[in-house]
Amino acid sequence: MKLFLDTANLEFIKKWVSTGLINGITTNPTHLAKEGGDPTQQVKEICAIMNSYGDVSVEVTDSEPKAVYKQAYEIAKLASNIVVKIPCACQYCDVMKRLVENDVKINATLVFSLEQSLLMAKLGVQYISPFVGRLDDIGADGLQLVEEIRTMLNLYDYESQLLAASLRGVNQVHNVMLAGADIATVPTGVFEKMMEHPLTEIGMKKFNDDWRKLGIKKFPA
Ligand code: E4P
Repeated sequence: MKLFLDTANLEFIKKWVSTGLINGITTNPTHLAKEGGDPTQQVKEICAIMNSYGDVSVEVTDSEPKAVYKQAYEIAKLASNIVVKIPCACQYCDVMKRLVENDVKINATLVFSLEQSLLMAKLGVQYISPFVGRLDDIGADGLQLVEEIRTMLNLYDYESQLLAASLRGVNQVHNVMLAGADIATVPTGVFEKMMEHPLTEIGMKKFNDDWRKLGIKKFPA
């Protein structure tokens, strides 16, 4: 299973990417706005850091379909490891079809239903991104959607990858892992929590305390 970081923060990406645990990055306009500065430069730097590690999803910010088509190419040209994020909406179907035909990789974002997912799979997008947390926020079942998309992709043998997005906690990462997501994109706070367990902390302290009692200065001697 692949893990992406859901952030545009350079320091956090640099901190973790060299471990090999991170297989890609998803940004969005909110993440880029939060970082401040020049978003084009920010995207270029993220792509350079991720160069040999994985791809970087960058979302279009235009809304009129012709402008989205043009902007998608401009974004794709920024680096060879870019995937263009386009909202899963009727007005962009033709745009996405033409981009896929011209080998521009697409991450279909803001996906909230199985029907939307089928249409995106038929268009041949690289990633289908169901927003698990935002569905849960409105009392729907984000995990169920991930399970259904997994079933649909397997049943009909589509090549799009299932990218579970909008994950708000370790428990959601746990659930989408078992539901068969190809990728979970994880916010920075959640990523570091994935490594933590109170019993690991307690166990480390106990081993350390017991060892110190021996008063041994060098081990192995
Ligand atoms: C995914 O690609 C999005 O950037 C992200 O997961 C959105 O998450 P949010 O619902 O927490 O904003």
